[in-house]
Amino acid sequence: MKLLVVGGGGREHAIADKLRRDLPNGTIFAAPGNPGTEAVAASVPVDTQNLESLATFAADERVDLTVIGPEVPLADGIVDLFDDRDLPIFGPIRAAAQLESSKAFAKELMRDVGVPTADFDVFTDPELAVGYLQELEPPVVVKASGLAAGKGVIICESLEEARRAIEEILGGRFGEAGRDVVVEEFLRGDELSVFFITDGERAVPLVAARDHKRLQEGDRGPNTGGMGAFAPVPGIGSELVETVRRTVAIPVLEELAARGIPYRGFLYVGLVLTPDGPKVLEFNCRLGDPEAQVVLPLTRGNLVEPMTAIARGEGLSDWQPPSPAGFALVTVLASGGYPEAYPRGLPITVPEGIESERLRVYHAGTAIRDGQLATAGGRVLGVTGIGDSLAEAGERSRAAAGAIDFENKHWRRDIGTVTHSSS
Ligand code: AMP
Ligand code: GLY
Repeated sequence: MKLLVVGGGGREHAIADKLRRDLPNGTIFAAPGNPGTEAVAASVPVDTQNLESLATFAADERVDLTVIGPEVPLADGIVDLFDDRDLPIFGPIRAAAQLESSKAFAKELMRDVGVPTADFDVFTDPELAVGYLQELEPPVVVKASGLAAGKGVIICESLEEARRAIEEILGGRFGEAGRDVVVEEFLRGDELSVFFITDGERAVPLVAARDHKRLQEGDRGPNTGGMGAFAPVPGIGSELVETVRRTVAIPVLEELAARGIPYRGFLYVGLVLTPDGPKVLEFNCRLGDPEAQVVLPLTRGNLVEPMTAIARGEGLSDWQPPSPAGFALVTVLASGGYPEAYPRGLPITVPEGIESERLRVYHAGTAIRDGQLATAGGRVLGVTGIGDSLAEAGERSRAAAGAIDFENKHWRRDIGTVTHSSS
């Protein structure tokens, strides 16, 4: 059997690593992959944006299953292209991936089917948007509707700040992603990320996780792609996940199917646990990064089978993985300066023998330079500790995160120890 993982970050390293464990004797490719994925998959020098070349590669190699890591190729229609050529692929078609690529689409769909979410409205006209602000109490949240690499969400402490955010977004700061603006109520409560595998009808949950998006300890500083994550989240039981499945995932999937755009793949539901119950912040059409680096090591049961069945259009039938045992916690090692400008090409030292079944080092932004492992991105490595308790997983992750070295390494020592809250 031959598999292809599309992407080259920490999430894709975690996906390739999980697939390798589930398929010890098969062939796995990663496009473009990274120095970490090379231990489990053969790198293919094709960029994730080059959909035609990816399809040609999958056809020439007779790949049995292609798995997409990042959102951009999904939003660009890689699944539609593979479907046209009868190439098995796991992920939503472009129209269904609008759940992530258009916040306006997702919010309006939630309103149509009664999924709890922050009160909102969508605008293309700045005057109407500013008028709507008068109905809200600060803080308010202003979002570019399209994909903006996590940068298009602005939490505004005053209506004046919100007015400026609306004008910047509709004025073109995020290009095409800011053609529409979503203005919404601020939700207070802890955040939770719930992940499902879905064939468009059934949705099977993986373990729910919590990530830490802020750069600095104590959940302060600017938002990033994610500085660490952990799972399972203490206090979050299977009843809550079942509520999210029944009241969020299933109604959304039914509506997409009824519109003739069935959704298949991973579905990531980002929630705030408000005093009035869970409310949806956003959907993503892929696994989270760095959440995948804790969710996948905890996922028992073989993922190749359900993913292949879904890619072939056969459905999940009664697939259900065993509940996860233990805890996982990932600490991200970032380049000094991230999420703004940062240097690349700094040599990385990973102490010999540091990796084990309970300590995994996932590569995110690394490259080989002059024969030496070096930094090549904002988030450089994800260091996942696994343990019988969250504390044990955290200690293991932090000990290794401290021992791995590169100049100006930035990391948070408090992942999993602060209650992340948007309040
Ligand atoms: P999003 O890309 O929509 O998930 O937004 C990124 C982050 O902004 C979320 O993880 C939250 O921390 C925060 N955020 C977005 N929308 C809201 C909201 N309505 N209320 C509170 N926080 C929000
Ligand atoms: N860690 C958040 C995300 O992947 O969107």
